[in-house]
Amino acid sequence: MKEHTKILNEFLRLFDNYQNEVNREDSKVLLDLSPNELKQKFDFSIDRKGISYEALLNAIENYLSLSVKTGHKQFFNQLFGGYNLSSILGEMTTSIANTSMYTYEMSPVATLIELEVIQKMCDHVGYEDGDGILTSGGSLSNLQAMLTARNKYFPGVMEQGTQAFPKMTAFVSEEAHYSLEKAGSILGLGTRQVIKVKTDISGRIIVSELERELEESINNNEKPFFIGLTAGTTLKGAFDSIQEVLPLVKKYNLWLHIDGSWGASVLLSKKHRHLVEGIKEAHSVTWNPHKTMNISVSCSALLVKEKGVLERNYSTDKIDYLFHKNKNETYDLGKKSLQCGRRVDALKLWLSWKYYGDNGYEKRTDKLVELAQYVTEKVQNHPKIELMNIPSFLNICFRWLPNIELDVNPFNLELRESLLKDGLGMVNYGYIDKDLTFRLVLTNPEIDKEDIDTLFSNMEKMAIEISTNHTKKAIAW
Ligand SMILES: Cc1ncc(COP(=O)(O)O)c(C=O)c1O
Repeated sequence: MKEHTKILNEFLRLFDNYQNEVNREDSKVLLDLSPNELKQKFDFSIDRKGISYEALLNAIENYLSLSVKTGHKQFFNQLFGGYNLSSILGEMTTSIANTSMYTYEMSPVATLIELEVIQKMCDHVGYEDGDGILTSGGSLSNLQAMLTARNKYFPGVMEQGTQAFPKMTAFVSEEAHYSLEKAGSILGLGTRQVIKVKTDISGRIIVSELERELEESINNNEKPFFIGLTAGTTLKGAFDSIQEVLPLVKKYNLWLHIDGSWGASVLLSKKHRHLVEGIKEAHSVTWNPHKTMNISVSCSALLVKEKGVLERNYSTDKIDYLFHKNKNETYDLGKKSLQCGRRVDALKLWLSWKYYGDNGYEKRTDKLVELAQYVTEKVQNHPKIELMNIPSFLNICFRWLPNIELDVNPFNLELRESLLKDGLGMVNYGYIDKDLTFRLVLTNPEIDKEDIDTLFSNMEKMAIEISTNHTKKAIAW
């Protein structure tokens, strides 16, 4: 037991050192090592003979120092990040208790905690008698939404498979997350039956195009059943207009899903929730607290308007070795899940929500949007940066324009590579049409305007350096 305490104390010291390192002004966001370089620095092997806890702690220290520092204030790369102690405490407690979410009997406290956070999220959406389940990510929440819709709209498909039915079609925008296309493939529709509707310049689904595609599908004797709108698209951060699509949902009798993996947390803000006006009319909503709520990866919810609709997808009646008939059986959340064993993701969310409260989360959300507006202005006011999207949320797409005659795409790629190589910052990129664009996203409310100034000043220095190097090369040539 003494050793146990010593190891834990040592672990906490490592954790604290790591956190101090992440916050040190000159610390790097990443080391940008190739797999071969990494293999030189980290012993990945597992041998016949075990090792001591001390050696494990060395491995943990090394793991932390070689990993990308997603809590660093120059990390703008992914739709998650930041540092949230209450969530980390939740993660650790989850592992210590090591329960699993299938039955109340197995996880009594965690079950009631999950029900509480689901209820809280349903309240924010505006579902009066809603329900939901935590899943391992936005992709799985979207898959389960489409599965639930398919099984409700095509009774018998669960038993007979899709071949017994006319071609089913689902509709999403061309900017929707790829998990919805993947869901179409997994659920037997086929990816081609997930129809990608054109978007406008800001990345929002064009409603007249959606109706045209619906009509075309019906004329082809297909059976449309699902519209998946996005609240906060992955690249541009666009919000499809729910209000404008609702009449089509009614007219064609479809299931409306909102993929709010990224953007549903606007519900936490009185100022910004107008972006998802009408969301309570949707049949289901995906919301990822591991994105803008800074919960450790992974933590995602699928919320549904109709209680009971999730359980009807699975025949768990005969699984009496797990789901016992007892007085608490209505609390067995496993009956609503695609998984059997399921990690307790609710605790870290609950602890964090309890710590910050609704008010804290509202402030955090508003601050992120303010920071995004600051970035947008910075980009717009800079003569050598071009804004590439119409920001409405936390995504700002932009590209640098070289000082000399250079192709813009390779120039921006080189700039990103320099940024990563020096470990000074991390900003992801994508393409808008054929133009390579940086996609800066804000997820960490601990970031301040000065951190954003630092990023742009570093990028500017690099952009000048790259242009100068190319000029020198051209002269030498
Ligand atoms: C709009 C949207 N939906 C779904 C997902 C998938 O979420 P996850 O990575 O948790 O599976 C993402 C991820 O970035 C996303 O941006």
